[in-house]
Amino acid sequence: MKSLSLWVVWGCFCFAHLTLTNSEEHNAPEDLLVLTVATTETDGFKRFLRSAKHFNYTVKVLGRGEKWQGGDYMTPGGGQRIRLLKEALEEMKEQEKTVLFIDSYDVVFASGPKELLKKFQQAGHRVVFSSETLIWPDRHLEDKHPHVREGNRFLGAGGFIGYLPNVKEMVADWAGEDHDSDQLFFTKIYINSEKRKSINITLDSKCRLFQNLNGALDEVVLKFEDSRVRARNVMYDTLPVVVHGNGPTKLQVNYLGNYIPMVWTFESGCTVCHQDQRPLAGIQESAFPLVMIGIFIQQPTPFVTVFFERLLTLQYPKNRLQLFIYNQESHHTKQVDSFLTSHGGLYHSMKVVGPAGDDTDSVSSRNLGLDMCRQDKECEYFFSLDVEVVLKNKDTLKILIEQNLPIVAPMITRAGRLWSNFWGALSAEGFYARSEDYVDIVQGRRVGVWNVPYISNVYLVKADVLRSELTEYGVFSSDTQDADMAFCSSVRSQGVFMYVTNMHSFGRIMSVENYQTQHLHNDLWQIFENPVDFEERYIHENYSLIMQDKIETPCPDVYWFPLFTDVACDHFVEEMEHYGKWSGGGGADKRIQGGYENVPTIDIHMNQVGYAGEWHKMLLDYVAPLTEKIFPGYYTKGGGCRFIRYNCSVEAPRKGWALMHPGRLTHYHEGLRTTGGVRYIAISFLDP
Ligand SMILES: *[C@@H]1O[C@H](CO)[C@@H](O)[C@H](O)[C@H]1NC(C)=O
Ligand SMILES: *[C@@H]1O[C@H](CO)[C@@H](O)[C@H](O)[C@H]1NC(C)=O
Ligand SMILES: *[C@@H]1O[C@H](CO)[C@@H](O)[C@H](O)[C@H]1NC(C)=O
Ligand SMILES: *[C@@H]1O[C@H](CO)[C@@H](O)[C@H](O)[C@H]1NC(C)=O
Repeated sequence: MKSLSLWVVWGCFCFAHLTLTNSEEHNAPEDLLVLTVATTETDGFKRFLRSAKHFNYTVKVLGRGEKWQGGDYMTPGGGQRIRLLKEALEEMKEQEKTVLFIDSYDVVFASGPKELLKKFQQAGHRVVFSSETLIWPDRHLEDKHPHVREGNRFLGAGGFIGYLPNVKEMVADWAGEDHDSDQLFFTKIYINSEKRKSINITLDSKCRLFQNLNGALDEVVLKFEDSRVRARNVMYDTLPVVVHGNGPTKLQVNYLGNYIPMVWTFESGCTVCHQDQRPLAGIQESAFPLVMIGIFIQQPTPFVTVFFERLLTLQYPKNRLQLFIYNQESHHTKQVDSFLTSHGGLYHSMKVVGPAGDDTDSVSSRNLGLDMCRQDKECEYFFSLDVEVVLKNKDTLKILIEQNLPIVAPMITRAGRLWSNFWGALSAEGFYARSEDYVDIVQGRRVGVWNVPYISNVYLVKADVLRSELTEYGVFSSDTQDADMAFCSSVRSQGVFMYVTNMHSFGRIMSVENYQTQHLHNDLWQIFENPVDFEERYIHENYSLIMQDKIETPCPDVYWFPLFTDVACDHFVEEMEHYGKWSGGGGADKRIQGGYENVPTIDIHMNQVGYAGEWHKMLLDYVAPLTEKIFPGYYTKGGGCRFIRYNCSVEAPRKGWALMHPGRLTHYHEGLRTTGGVRYIAISFLDP
């Protein structure tokens, strides 16, 4: 095995129809035996078996339960594979057998035995090895390799097919150690021209049978067609039958730009294929698993109050939810406390960590939260949720649980950007690499559940996985990597698969950049950084209707429309009172911005509270489009007032509604007497 897992999921060939006919009676599919070595049943191994089963391959697994001695990515190894193969072959007597020997942790079948055998026969040799673009482990052997007319020149030990007697002959001389390199052993046989001829070995240089992906990502694309997926090697125009996601040896990276979902929809709709991975039919109301929600507040973040309001509306029984809240910011303590005081009692349990008197940092809090679930026998899932995530889909938790996967994230994106909370591929150094289909997935042109090498911000982990594979306490800790990357690399190195689903729309993530904390209601300043969140919080829910509907006109040429939510009005007023430096002639009204004489008011200008730019943007985004609609070329202000020339009054102003009318020339007006309380008016003069 050259790598432990592969980010190609070849999960689903639901409607695969093979049209090839087998003209070789003496080489029937039932004579093909697939041999593979797997000492542990990783997710990658299960995936391999699923694809083998789907195409009706007969598979014999060698080394089950044995301790793996054959090295890992870091060092050449794999001698154990040859020893196990040799032992297994010695027991086999039927000379007619054809043997396919391949890795399994990072391999999937793309087609069935008939096609494989046909291509094997067409190769005209007794043993056919997979080929590699890169030579390893010993580059000095390059010159000894025979030249090939077209295609890859080097041998790949990760997969070969051959007739039993020839394969037996090939491994007969094996006397190496388990940690010796199988790659080197087979390479030496191949570059020995006598042995090559006598055993009758060739390479599958153009990837007709085997596709090794190491160094060849650019050659391979996925074809989604007729409800079926295949990899195509575009360099040689071939459709390989076996796809092997071997990767670079450094950093334990499984790199693979191309992956195939467990479940995917393809025009005709969603298909779920594999019994052992079939999503749960739906959680029984009586048996909701106990889930620990880990909420992480790691920086000053906008709309934290909204986050908690949304958390309350998550569709899941609260007595089946445990809360673990890490708050690094004293700025947010009030919001956390207020949520817990009002609603904490509804939940199964709660624990808050940070910020004061506590040296837990953001990495150790993640380790701690995960471990609380790991140690609690009742805890069945850990749902990690960063506070900047905006989960719009109230059923998210149920949907994820129903996927029945070890680790699964709902795909979220940043409004209007290609940013998302998963990576399609890794670079050789373990950083982000864009996969061929990343954009299609982010934009929803390909929909499914995708096996990916990195997820972040929001994901669900099965507690079983914490107790069997991710048993180490410090999965988020690393000397060189951030917590998110350290976690994903821990997961990958344990051979556990991570998935992301874009089968529903789940929500988005906010930007935490440029978040000011010096105001009372800092969220008001978010119109630039998080315009979608600003709109949802502050712009009246019926604002968008006015572009279609007729706008109310209480007086001639006076337009009346909903603009702000109640919350926006309260926040503006509280913000101004908080600032407190009212100035002007006095009177019953307080005006935000201002500057004209008929209305007795005291004023605060937007620029006094540092809101001029935001206010201007608000006018441009929400008021300007209307002025263009109703007065092509003319603009003005709003309030609660009487238009003297028309002897017409708007007497019961509605909170958050705006009045818009032409200015003083035609609509000279006065404020009506305030009969009780304080009236707050926000005023703007719009200049065309
Ligand atoms: C596998 O075998 C089953 C039963 O013999 C058959 O129904 C199915 O079509 C086969 N699958 C393929 C991909 O050939
Ligand atoms: C290799 O095997 C093929 C098929 O069995 C045979 O036709 C060919 O002559 C053999 N080549 C050599 C060099 O033995
Ligand atoms: C928005 O309009 C609908 C339909 O007229 C109304 O029922 C609802 O109360 C309005 N929302 C608000 C916040 O006024
Ligand atoms: C203004 O209108 C009111 C009633 O709508 C009426 O009683 C009043 O006489 C009018 N005033 C003028 C100056 O027209």
